[in-house]
Amino acid sequence: MKGIILAGGAGSRLYPLTLVASKQLQPVYDKPMVYFPLTTLLENGIHEICLISTPHDLPRFEQLLGDGKSWGVSIEYREQVKPAGIAQAFLIAETFIGADAVALILGDNIFYGGDGFQRAFGGFRSGAIVFGYHVHDPERYGVVEFDTQGRVVSIEEKPCRPKSNYAVPGLYLFDNQIVEITKALRPSARGELEITDVNLTYLQRGQLQVQLLGRGFAWLDAGTSSSLHDASAYVQTIERRQGVKIGCPEEAAFRQGFISLAEFEALAGRMPNCEYRTYLTSIVDELKRLPAAKHEESVK
Ligand code: TTP
Repeated sequence: MKGIILAGGAGSRLYPLTLVASKQLQPVYDKPMVYFPLTTLLENGIHEICLISTPHDLPRFEQLLGDGKSWGVSIEYREQVKPAGIAQAFLIAETFIGADAVALILGDNIFYGGDGFQRAFGGFRSGAIVFGYHVHDPERYGVVEFDTQGRVVSIEEKPCRPKSNYAVPGLYLFDNQIVEITKALRPSARGELEITDVNLTYLQRGQLQVQLLGRGFAWLDAGTSSSLHDASAYVQTIERRQGVKIGCPEEAAFRQGFISLAEFEALAGRMPNCEYRTYLTSIVDELKRLPAAKHEESVK
């Protein structure tokens, strides 16, 4: 499976922060926002990635992430000239997707905890998998409607009267039908190719799974000043308490086996003296202290 990070959009709700740097380059506590969705893909074994952003912001992302080689992955870049909808990503990335399945993640979505994603990525065979997450303000999102048996009957985009509290977060897994489905879509009343219309097509074909994410799982989207602040506070709280970092692509690449311990150590060594480097170095030191068998376990 390949991965797409969609990191364009207008970012108008974060103005004036987004005047010179796009939303997904803003800091969430101690890292650029895009590190978080990137890490989510890496943690789930995705190593071929395409990042889509505006012509204005794309060079900054390339500067930040490069070609991915030092993390043992490949990262390509494509432009979205206008924010014409999330589903447009599949048309922009058609040649990148090729004959594969693809996971799309939004560049401002932060996920932490649980094993829901591992199960979804690991068990994915065909069709589509999206997630359902209980929120207090479902009207801001695509909302899942269930029948009395708990079966999914519909997904409504930003409904005035939501039929449940389950919103669909910005991570979606699709098989290779995705390109053909997107090509047949018509723009919505707001002029966008809607991801909800893609999901509805899979639902009509009887090929959509909605996996509910449990209580132990955090989904934050950092699109407004308040939610950006909340996301920073959340990341800081967990990192301080546990002494582990959330959204650390180097660590994810190492734990997935994309890079060796020596390469991981070299990555840390090239960083300036900072808290981030100290963290990576502490992982190396901890692993070197472990007996070989334990070492294997912790990498997996
Ligand atoms: P939104 O937060 O809905 O939109 P936005 O980022 O343009 O922000 P604002 O409403 O404040 O103007 O988008 C969700 C995510 O999807 C975000 O990471 C941007 C991305 N996106 C694109 O890259 N291209 C698009 O065409 C759309 C609609 C969204």
